[in-house]
Amino acid sequence: MKKGVSFLVTVALVALVSSLASASDPSPLQDTCVAIDEPKDAVFVNGKFCKDPNLTVAEDFFFSGLDKPGNTSNAAASNVTTVNVDKIKGLNTLGISMVRIDYEPYGQNPPHTHPRATEILTVLEGTLYVGFVTSNTENRLISKVLNKGDVFVFPIGLIHFQFNVGKTKAVAIAGLSSQNPGVITIANAVFGSDPPINPDVLTRAFQLDKKVSSQNPGVITIANAVFGSDPPINPDVLTRAFQLDKSVVKYLQSRF
Ligand SMILES: *[C@@H]1O[C@H](CO)[C@@H](O)[C@H](O)[C@H]1NC(C)=O
Ligand SMILES: *[C@@H]1O[C@H](CO)[C@@H](O)[C@H](O)[C@H]1NC(C)=O
Ligand SMILES: *[C@@H]1O[C@H](CO)[C@@H](O)[C@H](O)[C@H]1NC(C)=O
Repeated sequence: MKKGVSFLVTVALVALVSSLASASDPSPLQDTCVAIDEPKDAVFVNGKFCKDPNLTVAEDFFFSGLDKPGNTSNAAASNVTTVNVDKIKGLNTLGISMVRIDYEPYGQNPPHTHPRATEILTVLEGTLYVGFVTSNTENRLISKVLNKGDVFVFPIGLIHFQFNVGKTKAVAIAGLSSQNPGVITIANAVFGSDPPINPDVLTRAFQLDKKVSSQNPGVITIANAVFGSDPPINPDVLTRAFQLDKSVVKYLQSRF
């Protein structure tokens, strides 16, 4: 009997230890989180510190002003107003946030990814041509023209865009599955990094010389996804996103 009990205790302990061992690390809530040894030097714990729950108030869960359009006087002719954990502190640890996006006629939210979130978008006004590109080696473009009331999903991590193909302004609202989704705008990250990426890297990656780059299965190779999707992304989107002549975009699309 005693032997039976200690056996059960052993089984329970092994089960407990192995469940701890197989538990995964928490998802990152920001780009980097380098460990430090002194807690007093900490900036935050994967996300933000928590307020004493007894001191929470309605304002911690509130934001006002999403009825106002963002300023679209910029190269993309669009503006994203984010309502994330920086705007609503009560979103901390809840895994959700939202944005309002305004587009001038022919304005766009250029090709970008959210490293930490899936996005679900609805059109309030106007007509948007939207799409996302699957990862290598397929690089399939999944696109659609959306009208008022239509809803579309952009899966986590995939390159996607919205382009206002109507003659009037467009407005969309989107929900994102992170308190801090992050945004990587492809053209800015690749051609606008600070300091710049060695041009030899980009020359070969984007086949701006005659050499052919290799493809790596299971990853998103930026040049392939953006210029080599099947079917191709509307050249007007890439012309504006990369600030290129349409002829250059068509040349790049023929190379991938
Ligand atoms: C919150 O309030 C409750 C009830 O007044 C109290 O028991 C508890 O200790 C408080 N918690 C903190 C973190 O102060
Ligand atoms: C978006 O609009 C806001 C509010 O008008 C403005 O402060 C911000 O600079 C705009 N962003 C861009 C990229 O134009
Ligand atoms: C929008 O941004 C542009 C460029 O930054 C600026 O000149 C203009 O005054 C802004 N408009 C509003 C309404 O804030």
